[in-house]
Amino acid sequence: MKVFVENLPKAELHLHIEGTFEPELMFKIAQRNNINIPYSSVKEIEAAYKFNCLQDFLNIYFEGAGVLITEQDFYDLTYSYLQKCASQNVRHTEIMFDPQTHTERGIKFETVINGISKACEDAEDKLGVSSLLIMSYLRHLSEEEAFKTLQQSLKYKNKITAIGLDSSEKGNPPSKFKSVFEASVKEGYIPLAHAGEEGSSDYVWEAIDILGIKRIDHGNNALQDENLVKEIIARDIALTVCPLSNTALQVVDNLKNHPLKKMMNAGLKVTVNSDDPAYFGGQINKNYFEIQQALNLTKYDLYQLAKNSFKYSLLNDLQKQQYL
Ligand code: HPA
Ligand code: ZN
Repeated sequence: MKVFVENLPKAELHLHIEGTFEPELMFKIAQRNNINIPYSSVKEIEAAYKFNCLQDFLNIYFEGAGVLITEQDFYDLTYSYLQKCASQNVRHTEIMFDPQTHTERGIKFETVINGISKACEDAEDKLGVSSLLIMSYLRHLSEEEAFKTLQQSLKYKNKITAIGLDSSEKGNPPSKFKSVFEASVKEGYIPLAHAGEEGSSDYVWEAIDILGIKRIDHGNNALQDENLVKEIIARDIALTVCPLSNTALQVVDNLKNHPLKKMMNAGLKVTVNSDDPAYFGGQINKNYFEIQQALNLTKYDLYQLAKNSFKYSLLNDLQKQQYL
């Protein structure tokens, strides 16, 4: 099964670039920027990665991202992730980045987007991995702040395909971002959002009805509401599920209780992804393999999951054809 997973061509649709920051690279970049981080070894960093909930993780994730300063830093972070894609037979990836995590610290939008997008171009040439970018708004900040980010992005519109919504879900419902999503769609961005990770099924309803999202990041709690499940299926919206993230953040207590197979059986279109692999203990292949073992998935299930990853990607039909 491990070899089957490794050989399976796949796309990754739920991945935060700031969440790919491996401790070794974090040390290297912190050192070259003369920044002190509160850890003295990779072991200490890894020991700190024990989370009780999403917020526990986010605190550490934002702290880690704080060492990224130059365009080269963003380039190195992104290229390092794309090399991992190449080695795992990930042919295409849709990378989320959180501009506000950086612009709030005084880093220019331009520095972030140029570093990330140059790495993507080089990886397409040298590694044969294609990618596109999803600009995610931080939902713990105001809608006004998101509007500022939208404005900053317009000059780089040709480099960005979609918008997302991430960070602390509870207390920050999708409806808070109704106007900025409308404005973003008018600019040509495809709307996506995290919903139903810690938030209830009501948040998933809001994400599809009020924000009009084309794909749901996580979506676990959609299963609480049968009518919602029917609606998601009727609209042919896929879920980007992240098994190891769900256990790391205690959204699911044990992989054996993960709802992925239930989702598939209900007719939902599911994909498997790593979310923040440096923090949650595994890259994409480990996510496929561990969920296969936990739920006894068949090779056919795995094939369906990988096929969905291309079918529900944001590639155009011609680009998708080479994989389907
Ligand atoms: N959920 C919400 N926000 C995030 C996540 C996540 O899993 N990862 C990075 N930002
Ligand atoms: Zn996520």
